[in-house]
Amino acid sequence: MKICMIGAGYVGLVSAACFSEFGWNVTCVDKDEGRLGDMRKGVSPIYEPGLDDLMVRNMKAGRLSFSGDLGPAVRDADVVFLAVGTPMRRGDGYADLSYVFAAVDELAPYLEGFTVITTKSTVPVGTSRQIEARLRALRPDAKFAVCSNPEFLREGSAIQDFTHPDRVLVGTDSADGRKVMEKLYKPLSLRGSPVMFVSRESAELAKYAANAFLAMKISFINEIADLCEDVGADVQEVASAIGKDRRIGDKFLHPGPGYGGSCFPKDVSAIIRTAREARSPVSIIEQVERVNHERKIACAHRIERALGGSVRGKRIAVLGVTFKPNTDDMRDAPSLVIVPMLQERGATVTAFDPQGEKHGAPLLPGVQWCASAIEALDGADALVVMTEWNEFRALDLEAAKAAMKGDVVVDLRNIFHPDAARAAGLTYTGIGRR
Ligand code: NAD
Ligand code: UGA
Repeated sequence: MKICMIGAGYVGLVSAACFSEFGWNVTCVDKDEGRLGDMRKGVSPIYEPGLDDLMVRNMKAGRLSFSGDLGPAVRDADVVFLAVGTPMRRGDGYADLSYVFAAVDELAPYLEGFTVITTKSTVPVGTSRQIEARLRALRPDAKFAVCSNPEFLREGSAIQDFTHPDRVLVGTDSADGRKVMEKLYKPLSLRGSPVMFVSRESAELAKYAANAFLAMKISFINEIADLCEDVGADVQEVASAIGKDRRIGDKFLHPGPGYGGSCFPKDVSAIIRTAREARSPVSIIEQVERVNHERKIACAHRIERALGGSVRGKRIAVLGVTFKPNTDDMRDAPSLVIVPMLQERGATVTAFDPQGEKHGAPLLPGVQWCASAIEALDGADALVVMTEWNEFRALDLEAAKAAMKGDVVVDLRNIFHPDAARAAGLTYTGIGRR
């Protein structure tokens, strides 16, 4: 089976490499010459654990290649995936579909034989039908089916998520399209992963509903964490107690500085717009967005309070700037709100992130970047944990205290044990903990 993957980003490149590992022949097409240059050398342009090895193995086996030329890849393909970005549209918060439709217009002239064109990008309900109408107008002669195949992988564990999914979701109303998609995902269905076939509208909406629900769990636990502080409970105890109920589940109940990333913020915003347009507003999701916005601001105030009410003239060491660990992705990271707020209020900020400096530095002007956590802590009044990279969990708190000028720790991810921090002579503030 031959696959053309249009867009070699966090989703396209991982999907392409995993499909080639299943034994399919994949050509990954991107417009970004820099990315193409890296990928042709077997170097992933994004940081995703395990991806370089997977790419190199499949490139050597002749199953994975990279190209800037859409024509041959589309002509040969049984399935063409659209995995380009669908960012939040400036000004109105809708999903920006310009990259998707541009790719559709570009691929149309090359369709040959029966081809499945499927969205892997997250697109609002109705988009597959719009793509179909557009292709019909451009190529009335072509034989094709347009499917929806939303992706549920997470950055940082993308390969494991892609190869061991809770479910694969395919939206189609074409019997021929379904046959092709069944064959494509056979390697997963044979291993017991459920491959679900639904209507295109259901598949498209299910993707947004899933992300909105997960975002809701995070906003929920963040509010419960604040309540815990006010009534003397401990959010970790509360989360693990409610999480034992299988109807609730123990995942996505970690409080923090609010959800970020390239997906939850834009997808929550987009489903709100879709629902308003359909005159069926999703008021719970609107509140989730509000709570998350306020959360980041409240975290900056929390740091201010921990430093005695003002950060003016203080030196703050921020550990982690990416939106989550095991990625270099800075899109909508909470640090992008919290760090500038601290700087505006007169703090100087030093930072260390194992992968975040490259994309973080241009977005966080004025930050002094360091090569290690201890270097960032040198002379600092406060330590702030923004992202829970594993290496921070093992930080020697006594060495941290010795390097610092002050003793304040604001642990926005609850990675340190409060007693251990206190024993090291630090003044500890966590989230929702006694
Ligand atoms: P990304 O920005 O990392 O990658 C998009 C790539 O598409 C870029 O390399 C860009 O150069 C390329 N591109 C754009 N237009 C092109 C064209 N016409 N031809 C060839 N290449 C083109 O985006 P991403 O994070 O991979 O997200 C892609 C989509 O997948 C989005 O809709 C997103 O919501 C969805 N998604 C992302 C994740 C995630 O973890 N990042 C998970 C699930 C779903
Ligand atoms: C998320 C979803 O988990 C994926 O299923 C989905 O495919 C993807 O969005 C997408 O549509 O792009 P991702 O953004 O990579 O994946 O990362 P998550 O692990 O979901 O984390 C998102 C944000 O929520 C991060 O800022 C993280 O710190 C925060 N979070 C997560 C919490 O604050 N608490 C939690 O308990 C879990």
